[in-house]
Amino acid sequence: MTRKNQLAGDAHWWRNAVVYQIYPRSFADANGDGIGDLAGIISRVDYLANLGIDAVWMSPFYPSALADGGYDVDDYMDIDPRIGTLDQFDELVQRLHEKSIRVFVDVVPNHSSDRHEWFKQALAAAPGSPERERYIFRDGRGENGELPPSDLASHFGPEGWTRVPDGQWYMHLFTKEQPDFNWDNPQVEEYFLKTLRFWSDRGVDGFRIDVAHALKKNLSPLPDRDSYALSVMKDDGTDPLFDRDEVHEVYRGWRKVFNEYDPPRVAVAEAWVHPHRRPPYASEEGLGQAFNFDLLASGWDAAQFKSVISDNLAMSVETGSSSTWVLSNHDVIRHATRFAIPGYGLSPDSFDLENQWYVQHRMDHDLDLAAGLARAKAATLLMFALPGSSYIYQGEELGLHDVVDIPSDQMQDPQWFRGEGKFKSRDGCRVPLPWESSGSSFGFGPGGSHLPQPEWYANVAVAVQEGDSKSTLSLYRQALKLRRELYQSDELEWLDLGPGVLGFRRSADWICVTNFSHEPVEIASKVLISSTEIVDGLLQPNSTAWLSSL
Ligand code: GLC
Ligand code: CA
Repeated sequence: MTRKNQLAGDAHWWRNAVVYQIYPRSFADANGDGIGDLAGIISRVDYLANLGIDAVWMSPFYPSALADGGYDVDDYMDIDPRIGTLDQFDELVQRLHEKSIRVFVDVVPNHSSDRHEWFKQALAAAPGSPERERYIFRDGRGENGELPPSDLASHFGPEGWTRVPDGQWYMHLFTKEQPDFNWDNPQVEEYFLKTLRFWSDRGVDGFRIDVAHALKKNLSPLPDRDSYALSVMKDDGTDPLFDRDEVHEVYRGWRKVFNEYDPPRVAVAEAWVHPHRRPPYASEEGLGQAFNFDLLASGWDAAQFKSVISDNLAMSVETGSSSTWVLSNHDVIRHATRFAIPGYGLSPDSFDLENQWYVQHRMDHDLDLAAGLARAKAATLLMFALPGSSYIYQGEELGLHDVVDIPSDQMQDPQWFRGEGKFKSRDGCRVPLPWESSGSSFGFGPGGSHLPQPEWYANVAVAVQEGDSKSTLSLYRQALKLRRELYQSDELEWLDLGPGVLGFRRSADWICVTNFSHEPVEIASKVLISSTEIVDGLLQPNSTAWLSSL
């Protein structure tokens, strides 16, 4: 059966969409319990429409004990009562669709939470039972099975196996509250097809697929692993835990479900794989689009930006998909702060450097935050000029910095608690948004805020920026409006503008120039928009401008 939704028509809307990520617990709180909710999002639909985005992606809103910020799902076909109801969800979809804003929801197929009905049944059942076969249970090693079945760490810390009272162990690539599903069990496969239909029937337009490169595993022999660095992952489809070729059979099945709808539902893969392994995730037979996180790992450097952009545009030609671009999300230090971290992006593993900086310096940092913000605005304006779709994260339109100095005892992120002092906390980008410059939670809601908000929020609140044509919010709004007018095709032609200056032409009357150097650059033509003011025809360092010609 083919079902229509209100925004039927263009099946290719996603190709150059600007998608705004909402972290529901931290966007807007309508009932004052300190936790963002669907009613809060509904109350801000006009804000989203005025921003000029094409779609929103909501991070998990499912019932959850929040062992991993909601990526531990108790029930894939319901809403956490603290966040809202299915009726409110339907209302939100309707309200967004009325404004021509599409909706992505987050699907977490690698693991459920340990409060999921199936996991409870598995614990209640005996070793070897069909109930346990939906997850990955094994006997331990050692005389009495007291040692874990293999030497497997998890992403967030030491152990990747947890023992249950009858002596068996279950596997979890993330926290112990996130047991991995057994994707060789057809029931698991069917359950997710049902989940995709459940949300598609409610009018959802697309899905963001969490750790899409996991799911299928080769468990004989049981794998050992002590690091999740990309360099450790095999790049030929034979890694026992990630990016196995069989995972694409799963997504071919999902694609059939997407195509039952009009327009077809779409998906974007979160797949942390070697770049040359990304294409099948983005293929038309698969999920259709895959995140490219290369800008998250780039420093403020013209050469790095240029190679990331050219490589990914070449890859999108290969896959027939469009490229995606990401500067911030709920898992990384916000880009306004990241671009101020000395040396960031110049090391082969920028994420290690980010973690080290965070662990050592977060409480007494002397970052040049003004330079970081200027670079962030310039990078965003550059990103909005690129062919393909941009994924932006709530609060970046306010130029928010990461709240790096949250006291340890108020943090929530398991990566911080389980990481033995090696990993950053992701709470700093998840602090509830400032809507007003005063009030108990800066207008986030009538009550408090589930993470502490910093005093400097008063200066960057939405209410302050709305009235200021030079604010970061105004820049985002103006840029997205212009982008709609200027975007004609996916063509991009590089211009040679000298060292440290990156320029490209998108059409006869749309040129983007970014100054990564330390010297101002002369601009002799009409400026359409710029991330910092052009004075005396000069584009300042850490700035981007769109020009109508050269
Ligand atoms: C993804 C999410 C992250 C989560 C992890 C486990 O990487 O983006 O927030 O912790 O998956 O589900
Ligand atoms: Ca609430």
